[in-house]
Amino acid sequence: MTVKTDVKDFKGKSFLKLLDLTTEEISALIDLSAELKAMKKAGVPHRFCEGKNIALIFEKTSTRTRCAFEVAAHDLGMSTTYLDPDASQIGKKESIADTARVLGRMYDGIEYRGFGQEVVEKLSELSGVPVFNGLTNEFHPTQILADFLTIREHIGELKGVNFVYMGDARYNMGNSLMVGCAKLGMNFTACAPEKYFPDSELVAKCQEIAKETGATLNFETDPAKAVENAQVIYTDVWVSMGEPAEVWKERIDDLLPYQVNKALMDKAGEGAVFMHCLPAFHDLNTGVGKQVGEQFGLDALEVTDEVFESPASIVFDEAENRMHTIKAVLYASLHN
Ligand code: CP
Ligand code: NVA
Repeated sequence: MTVKTDVKDFKGKSFLKLLDLTTEEISALIDLSAELKAMKKAGVPHRFCEGKNIALIFEKTSTRTRCAFEVAAHDLGMSTTYLDPDASQIGKKESIADTARVLGRMYDGIEYRGFGQEVVEKLSELSGVPVFNGLTNEFHPTQILADFLTIREHIGELKGVNFVYMGDARYNMGNSLMVGCAKLGMNFTACAPEKYFPDSELVAKCQEIAKETGATLNFETDPAKAVENAQVIYTDVWVSMGEPAEVWKERIDDLLPYQVNKALMDKAGEGAVFMHCLPAFHDLNTGVGKQVGEQFGLDALEVTDEVFESPASIVFDEAENRMHTIKAVLYASLHN
């Protein structure tokens, strides 16, 4: 059994940010994800990386990304070692530079989730093995592959799709979605108060890419205008991992008008879908959601429960696709 999608140029490469990949490479990874997903659904074994080992470093917590890497690696015949910050020397007794050189001697690949993008870049430079970005402050590239596979499954295409990101667009999700949309010729709109728009240097890079792909990039402060004709409305938490709890007040003051609720979905294009990388604060059934919700008198934060639970919401297809798309990245880089 072999795969049909051609990803041979990706062998031995790291997956650090979408800016490093061509449009064709990103599209091929999405095609490969669909192919591997079909194999899994059909019960066809696909142990294409038999005998390999990968280390999974998580300096921040995770449900989806960790599980996706573990299940994907095991389906491909690989073994995994999970390293959390409390159970390893990383950061406390050993630098990333030293960790990179140790793990590179033992493992065929390394996944890293943590803080600065420079850490994952350094791991890749010093370990001598492919490194996979499982989320940094700046980028979350494996999430975008899952998001785009999901959009393709629901809308049938990516090029020309009207994609609106509501909320804090300066962080990993807003940045990566903007890059992804630019690379794949989509119409990207970030909607928030101006101070939450992505960094101007990154916007300029994406504008250059957009000239080649036909993508458009828009930055809008008015939610009603932003979602006109939208096919996808996407949001993320207002306070990301690693940020102090003190910023909640400012974020709620600034971003509550950008909450994804029924009134907003009703203004979008017909058949518009709702997406979220998850975890989401759509009710008070989480520790943080309950505490923040009660403190500010809200029953939901970035998205209401009504939208989250509505037929327009495709968040669990998106979550499942984390596994199929991470499997494609692992296959492309590490297959035998
Ligand atoms: N979307 C995402 O990365 O989820 P986790 O934080 O659970 O990995
Ligand atoms: N922006 C969020 C994404 C979580 C998947 C965070 O960094 O916490």
